[in-house]
Amino acid sequence: MKSVLLSVRHRWLLVPSSRGVTRHRVQIYEGGKLLHDFVSPLASAEVEWWAPIDLVSSLGRQITLTSEDETLFDLVRWTQERPSPCDLYREPLRPLFHFSCRQGWLNDPNGLVWYRGEYHLFYQHNPYFTDWGNMHWGHAVSRDLVHWTELDIALFPDEHGAMFSGCAVWDKENTSGLDPDGSMALLYTGAKEDSVQCLAHSSDGREFIKYSGNPVIPTIERGNRDPKVFRDDARDRWLMALYVPDGARHAIHLLSSRDLKRWTPLSRVLGGEGKDAFLFECPDMFPLRWQDEERWILIGADGQYLIGSFDGTTFVPGTEPLRSIFGTSYYAGQTFDSEPRDRRVLIGWLRGPANGGTFSQCMSLPLEVSLAEGDDGPRIALNPVSEVETLRKPEQTWPGVSLEEGQREVLAEAMDGFALSIVISEENDGHLALQVGEIGLLYDPASRQLSCGETSVRIPGKAAALDIRIYGDRTTLEIFAAGGLIYWPIADAATSRSLSVEARRGRVDLAMISLSRMKSSWPGALD
Ligand code: FRU
Repeated sequence: MKSVLLSVRHRWLLVPSSRGVTRHRVQIYEGGKLLHDFVSPLASAEVEWWAPIDLVSSLGRQITLTSEDETLFDLVRWTQERPSPCDLYREPLRPLFHFSCRQGWLNDPNGLVWYRGEYHLFYQHNPYFTDWGNMHWGHAVSRDLVHWTELDIALFPDEHGAMFSGCAVWDKENTSGLDPDGSMALLYTGAKEDSVQCLAHSSDGREFIKYSGNPVIPTIERGNRDPKVFRDDARDRWLMALYVPDGARHAIHLLSSRDLKRWTPLSRVLGGEGKDAFLFECPDMFPLRWQDEERWILIGADGQYLIGSFDGTTFVPGTEPLRSIFGTSYYAGQTFDSEPRDRRVLIGWLRGPANGGTFSQCMSLPLEVSLAEGDDGPRIALNPVSEVETLRKPEQTWPGVSLEEGQREVLAEAMDGFALSIVISEENDGHLALQVGEIGLLYDPASRQLSCGETSVRIPGKAAALDIRIYGDRTTLEIFAAGGLIYWPIADAATSRSLSVEARRGRVDLAMISLSRMKSSWPGALD
């Protein structure tokens, strides 16, 4: 490693980066203190983007820049303002109404909390390039769950390692003793070879202070991670669901704490292993109402869940692992703490292919989670929160569409953001083929199978009528069917799509079709 001493006269240090070049380790020290330590694809010739590093706290002082590649020393630049691409939020592949970060990579949503009037969305973030690595906690806020403002990075890697997934809670009563007015508490995994659970707090939701006594939970088993904390008001304590590998199996450990700092093990729930793996990573646990009773949900990163009971200490599964989320695009969802509208809201990561731009990946729509009647008892139903509807442009409707076998109706050409709703009537015998750009869906009312490519999903219930809603954005489709008992997101890389319906193997009657374009939720975006 080579080093150079630099005076910090401007706030932002810009590191030249480019795809497909060798990644080098870079470190930035002030005095003997390590401020930043990351791996970056350092561009020496063509710079595709500049990775900005905020050095506000070192202004007027000197830093030591250390790198395996000394050509970096001549190439770095400085700016006073955070540089912003001129087409920010208007890039051709920018999702219009799904959260994506302005630059770099994102994966799991973290720290979902409503705190003093704002929704906070933190996320696994690599600010340096568009693949996974260098995990930080990115940060965005919103007043309505659909218009997000990206803020500065909230958590940087430190002596405990990279900043892996975790949660946030509003500690209204200052149980932690860290802030007299109560604060937002973040619980997250510090990931090195042995990962540990750590605590940070913030009173203004902008600046985050890491607790000096970290870690609050030492390694239980190597690979333990992703704490999700929730309040147990009845017992005046906090509970945590934590992923802990258990030999070859997965397990979720439950722990309790009065102050978010000292944690006591309570119980554990075992998941599957190998191809039956469930309860792997990023657990969430919460109650839902069902016919005036409370049912507890325990859900893992791939969306498989158990419905059971919880006595404050032990979760007892009452079902086999269940699925309401299909396909392979959804991952690592989490629900909001302190949601003010008496509902449970989930956001997941929609993992998709890289789009070739300077940012990659996006979040799902915010989804309201409830229980609805499935084939064999209550099942999770997921539906976009009502705030999403504020983004609709005027709607076009087709009341009653009958299609003879082979007949095709084109609904629209070149839709980039849209919401499509179709109600299939009772009397169908034909199959409905729905073409959304390159993606074909087929519904067979006799077998109640909804298919896309090789994957088929059985629609629960008995009624022949079926509702299918699709929210399409530039790089994602989210399919909702049977009142949300089926949620099937597909992350791909289309830009705009044509929409058509066609009858196959018989006649198809559609009671109603409605279609709206969706507005962009980004500032300065052209409508
Ligand atoms: C899930 C996950 C988490 C981990 C994080 C790291 O996607 O593997 O278990 O905390 O991503 O980015």
